[in-house]
Amino acid sequence: MEIQTFFHQLWQCYAELTPQAAPIHALFAADNPLLQNDHVAFRTLGLQPITLLALETHLLRLGYHRHAAHDFPEKKLHAWSYVHFRRGEPRIFLSELQVGALSPPNQALLTALCGHVAPERLAEPDIFWAGRLWPMPSWAAYQQLQAESEYAAWFSVMGLRPNHFTISINSLRTPNTLAAAVDRVRAAGFAFNTEGGVIKGAPHLGLEQASTMADPVELIFADGDAHQVPGCYFELAQRYPQANGELYPGFITASADRIFESTHVREARS
Ligand code: NI
Repeated sequence: MEIQTFFHQLWQCYAELTPQAAPIHALFAADNPLLQNDHVAFRTLGLQPITLLALETHLLRLGYHRHAAHDFPEKKLHAWSYVHFRRGEPRIFLSELQVGALSPPNQALLTALCGHVAPERLAEPDIFWAGRLWPMPSWAAYQQLQAESEYAAWFSVMGLRPNHFTISINSLRTPNTLAAAVDRVRAAGFAFNTEGGVIKGAPHLGLEQASTMADPVELIFADGDAHQVPGCYFELAQRYPQANGELYPGFITASADRIFESTHVREARS
């Protein structure tokens, strides 16, 4: 699959579920013809057949290679970042929940969901926009997962899909700072994740990031009840040159840790 096709399909999947996606993109696309996507992020479970390693196979075929590993012990997550051999292609951040570290009831719940996924479903890169590949959980199951892992609860209803796209501030003509870009998005009425401050990271660390709060999505759970749950969000990122003159290529674990919380239910909203 061509990388352009891959990202086109990802955007379609993301925009369909995320009402804020098209309007936020349009806020910058209008005066920035060279607007670029800094990265997309995916979530999965460390359970067969949808492991990080199984998904990674497709990224390697698309021309990506591993850049750095990230661990989030409190959230029980392990992640890799990936860069493409062609400079300018979006980066990818792929995380995996260490299901074995959860309580036995939640391990059993997630193992049952994964039991519905045929291993053949992993054969093509369209697994990255496959969505939920198991029956809808009950509201009680969702809440049980959420009490221990917001990530697990989100994944149980959203499945495999891009969790966010990211406006590259470096690709913009205007505005040319992350703070000004955040102001533009806020002025249009979108709320930001304020955990650890709206802007995470710092120029001397090479990367500054800010993310909106996820759009709520109304879903019908297995018991027939409708509930609003967090869907997907948008991120803005600005990269700074390192000593060698190249833009910082990686991710900052502490910032990523807080950005995961853009899909938390009990978040304070600004
Ligand atoms: Ni991100």
